[in-house]
Amino acid sequence: MQRKRKNLGMTLAQIKKMETVCQLAAQTLQYAAKLVAPGVTTGHINDAVHEYTLSLDAQSAPLNYHGFPKSVCTSVNDVVCHGVPRDDEVLMPGDAINIDVTLKKAGFFGDTSATFFVGEVTDNVKKVTEAAKKGMMAGIEQVKAGNRTGDIGYATNKVVTNLGFYTVKAIGGHGIGDQFHKDPFVPAAGRPKSGEILRENTCITVEPMVNETSEDFIEFQIPDSSICYYKTIDGTATAQFEHTILITKNGYEILTAW
Ligand code: MF3
Ligand code: CO
Ligand code: CO
Repeated sequence: MQRKRKNLGMTLAQIKKMETVCQLAAQTLQYAAKLVAPGVTTGHINDAVHEYTLSLDAQSAPLNYHGFPKSVCTSVNDVVCHGVPRDDEVLMPGDAINIDVTLKKAGFFGDTSATFFVGEVTDNVKKVTEAAKKGMMAGIEQVKAGNRTGDIGYATNKVVTNLGFYTVKAIGGHGIGDQFHKDPFVPAAGRPKSGEILRENTCITVEPMVNETSEDFIEFQIPDSSICYYKTIDGTATAQFEHTILITKNGYEILTAW
């Protein structure tokens, strides 16, 4: 008869709202991807994503979130995450850009990102990006009610390490639902059977950041915000992918599938 109130999963109606907002987030990311080209500014991508989001009858969750000044994160080249779009930041052939879209609709959040190339990029950039995508997928495959966050991190880190790269340990995924960020922390490295237990009918993000030469990064303040952005220590490459995942009894659903 006892049931802990904490960690109760979502109702079917709440899950439906998550499915809706996550699909719209994925659609917005696909829209943003088409804008990536030489000569385009990250400020333009921001403005276009903002308008597109409104056209879907949704809100851009990053805007004013802990003082974040823009509607989407655009992390170019050595920016690990939380890059702030700028009207004077022009994409050039050879650049890699992670676009991280978070939408809010009917009180629920959908969060997804991917790394895109501007023209031809170096083999190293391609390899780091591939490692981040494979690491994310390996982590997602561990998602199942009863498994733990450490299982996700372990699987991600193994793939990334085997490819010769480094997962960022200090920043990671998160619970999501009626809040943008909530427990548990979802690491990109860890030990099997460690960390928090994954609960049925709750959502998390899996969003490993993968660096070319080191897990370390440098932190930069965003003016008037408690959010920081981060760069690699030596200007080398970094990449990230992110999906919002529903934890089910026997596995998972990728709610932001693009
Ligand atoms: N979308 C990011 C994440 O994956 C968070 C961005 S917070 C912001 O968790 F304030 F920088 F937008
Ligand atoms: Co996220
Ligand atoms: Co995100």
